[in-house]
Amino acid sequence: NTAKVFSHCPIPKGDRVAIVTNSGGPGIMATDTVVECGMQMAELSDATKEKLRSFLPAAASVKNPVDMIASAPLDHYQQTLETVLSDDGVDMVIVIYLPFLGLKDIDVAKAVMEIKAQHPNKPIVGVFMTKNEFFAKLSDMEVNVPFFMFAEEAVMGLDRLNQQRKWIERPITSPMRFDVDAEKAAKIFSDAAAENREQLTTGESLQVLSAYGIRVCKDGEAKNADEAVALAEEIGYPVVMKLNSKKISHKTDVGGVRVGIKDAEQLRAEYADLVAKLEAKGLMEGFEGVIVQEMVKSDREMVCGCAKDPQYGPMMMFGLGGVFVEVMKDVTFRLAPLTPEDAKDMITSVKAYKLLQGARGAIPAQIDKVEETLMRLSQLVEDYPSIEELDINPLMISDKNGEPIAVDGRIKVSLT
Ligand SMILES: Nc1ncnc2c1ncn2[C@@H]1O[C@H](COP(=O)(O)OP(=O)(O)OP(=O)(O)O)[C@@H](O)[C@H]1O
Ligand SMILES: [Mg+2]
Repeated sequence: NTAKVFSHCPIPKGDRVAIVTNSGGPGIMATDTVVECGMQMAELSDATKEKLRSFLPAAASVKNPVDMIASAPLDHYQQTLETVLSDDGVDMVIVIYLPFLGLKDIDVAKAVMEIKAQHPNKPIVGVFMTKNEFFAKLSDMEVNVPFFMFAEEAVMGLDRLNQQRKWIERPITSPMRFDVDAEKAAKIFSDAAAENREQLTTGESLQVLSAYGIRVCKDGEAKNADEAVALAEEIGYPVVMKLNSKKISHKTDVGGVRVGIKDAEQLRAEYADLVAKLEAKGLMEGFEGVIVQEMVKSDREMVCGCAKDPQYGPMMMFGLGGVFVEVMKDVTFRLAPLTPEDAKDMITSVKAYKLLQGARGAIPAQIDKVEETLMRLSQLVEDYPSIEELDINPLMISDKNGEPIAVDGRIKVSLT
């Protein structure tokens, strides 16, 4: 359907649709779909309505959708279509035809195509709820109008044209560049490369993010229980303790994330328990100790990152995060590098945007900070083409002030 409209229609100047029909039902179905797609039903001018009234029967409706009634002869189709196309308030037209004894469907189609040839600047689509033979006949002809059997298909085709219009009209801006601690990031990457390691540890990943100006929760790395306790005193309880390993990237799978730790005693116990479990499972290889983090209070977990598409290269990703990523599939992708418009677009285009705005009395997220996070990530990916995978999951939205805070990071590079 998309190919059909794009091969025969120009890009419209706006999103106002007029419908010309000889049958009320399909006219209403088309109207409903226009509204569902977020386009406008064109408001016909008084002059247009007056002109239509001058030749259409009294039972006809001269408001949009224009219902010429079932008995509309060919010249009513021609005159009505001409009149509606000449209205400056109309950007696109749908012509609907249902079989009527006095008319041949192919003759109506030919009349529509002749008018289209004289009005090449506005998209016109046909909805002909008629026999399959009609469409077979069309395929043997040179056509300049896309014809569909059903109204919904036609409207969705127009919606694609409208989306393309909006895309073309977007302001063109360039990606922003932020000041970052490039040296610190470079050292982390080169240290890992020196060990021939593609996967950065969680600790290293968070340090890279923080070097790129992304807000990471208060945290630090500890090699043993004593260091962990000292860190926790600095950060303040409750804390989160998580495994820092050169081998394991999905920490939860091995019981490597302990949240809500209240005091030093519990922290020591969790540390001992983690080590015991890893030893029992033979997972101590690559063990670097733990990360101790402030416990962020948040009900909203987002995900953002980058994945490499074999054809398009680096694609930035944003959406609902945490454990629901795979289940909800509420994520969106854009080509890197991101412009400010791209970043805005990504955030508003996921369903979870409503959560960010503060549904059900939650504190609204600091959307501008989320945008900045996406753009800083994009800069990181641009600076390091060797990054194969990168994600922040979750990027937590603080219950306190709506600030986006990274609590987990994963970076994988290619060494070849
Ligand atoms: N600092 C923190 N404050 C509050 N909650 C946290 C914190 N760190 C982790 N969590 C909670 O624990 C969950 C898992 O943590 P994390 O993402 O670090 O582990 P993970 O093993 O990488 O998980 P996955 O691989 O499934 O993304 C988070 O989704 C979040 O709900
Ligand atoms: Mg995670």
